[in-house]
Amino acid sequence: MATKIVPYEDIEKQKKYIQCVREKNLAKEEKPIACIKTFGCQMNEHDSEKIAGMLEQMGYVLVPDETEGKYDGRICDLVIFNTCCIRQNAEEKVFGHIGALKGAKRVKPDMVTIVCGCMTEQLHIVEEINKKYKNVDIVFGTHNLHRLPEFVYNSIFNNSRICELSHTEGEVAEGLPIKRESSFKAWVTIMYGCNNFCTYCIVPYVRGRERSRRMTDILEEIRGLAESGIREITLLGQNVNSYGKDLMENDGCRSFADLLAAICVTIEGTGLKRIRFMTSHPKDLSQELIDVMAKYPAVCKQLHLPVQAGSTEILNKMNRKYTKESYLDLVARIKEKMPDIVLSTDIIVGFPEETDEDFEETLDLVRKVQYDMAYTFIYSPRVGTPAAKNPNQVPEENVKERFDRLVELQSSVDRAKNEAMVGKVVEVLCEGLSRTNINRFTGRTEGNKIVNFVADVKCLREAEGKFVKVYIEKAQTWSLEGHAVEWE
Ligand code: 5AD
Ligand code: SF4
Repeated sequence: MATKIVPYEDIEKQKKYIQCVREKNLAKEEKPIACIKTFGCQMNEHDSEKIAGMLEQMGYVLVPDETEGKYDGRICDLVIFNTCCIRQNAEEKVFGHIGALKGAKRVKPDMVTIVCGCMTEQLHIVEEINKKYKNVDIVFGTHNLHRLPEFVYNSIFNNSRICELSHTEGEVAEGLPIKRESSFKAWVTIMYGCNNFCTYCIVPYVRGRERSRRMTDILEEIRGLAESGIREITLLGQNVNSYGKDLMENDGCRSFADLLAAICVTIEGTGLKRIRFMTSHPKDLSQELIDVMAKYPAVCKQLHLPVQAGSTEILNKMNRKYTKESYLDLVARIKEKMPDIVLSTDIIVGFPEETDEDFEETLDLVRKVQYDMAYTFIYSPRVGTPAAKNPNQVPEENVKERFDRLVELQSSVDRAKNEAMVGKVVEVLCEGLSRTNINRFTGRTEGNKIVNFVADVKCLREAEGKFVKVYIEKAQTWSLEGHAVEWE
């Protein structure tokens, strides 16, 4: 099915709702405050920037995420939960937070509580919210994000409870306002959804089929970001390597490699110096993409390449469509073209039927690849996925023991990799002061490693969003320490 853009009139209709809510909010004596609570991945973080953009236009003042719906002792006028359902514990956390707002709602009945995102694309979750969380006023899923103004309008003006789960398949909404968290780093969505149906994963059910944005829209957004002083962008998609496959015609852009090359050409001569992207499915990572990455200096030599497991049999049961050998071969080809590539991965421990021998294959692969970073997860059965129906779930104690062994192995690799950086000078994009030590600055290398460093800078403005060469003095497991030697 070809991807459609949400019709212009529909977005215009939302602008009218924004205006009505804004007028009501501006007429209030005290400016209404709103809080967004975000759970989950970068895609959700970025969706929350769109939510923030719409709420701000509706006249809300955005306040930080504080407990029980209060900010500075005042109960928020609106609280929105942008939820995640990738694992059971993500869902439990969200329910805990929603429940904690019941008291605030009793004190302030016109407080608007909204639950949206991945969790609310699941019927059993919506039923649970309807039954147990009467304090929730609006429920909608990932496909209806652009209709937030309409839902808030109906809640406020018609005092109606809204539960909107219907949507048109295969649409992409353009032109939403975005309030970006950072003034020098930005997310750019290039596609939505996933067609892969890995047997453990809930994402295709809650995010729908793959929909790519048009290249012209993406390039226009990136041009605007470069003009506004953004230094680094991260292209987002559940599987960026299948970009464009659903587009009927896309200005000659055939693949993600084509798009990436076009972005590099677009930003030449601007202050936008770094491009990252995530996530890449190993089965779709083409040689053409490796070549484009190697060719353009603006593409960070960093790759998140989730392997999930080392045993070919388990990979097959996961429906990953590659083998341990073909994955290792891909890594070898990447390292051949880009010897300094920084690789990270996702690994699931305790997938149904995983034996000790299967798990040894995972350890073996981790030793062979030498990842700079691995995100390790305990398998969590998700309602409606094939793997959750498998009667041969691995006992908890075995999973725990395997998980600890994997974490220990990867930590030693992390540390060794970081220790190899000591004595080198690396380029860092300075993000500001370190949160844990205000006498230090913090930033990230091209490989996305965190560097905390001292620098002789008079004001923060001189440092934030600037590139700086840092001499690395010391390695920690998950970060590096050093001192600035030269600012751009
Ligand atoms: N259980 C555990 N981890 C999961 N992931 C996705 N689904 C599950 C699940 N059911 C992990 C995968 C994916 C990452 C984003 O989350 O490793 O790459
Ligand atoms: Fe989930 Fe697999 Fe799609 Fe990634 S590629 S979002 S793991 S189904």
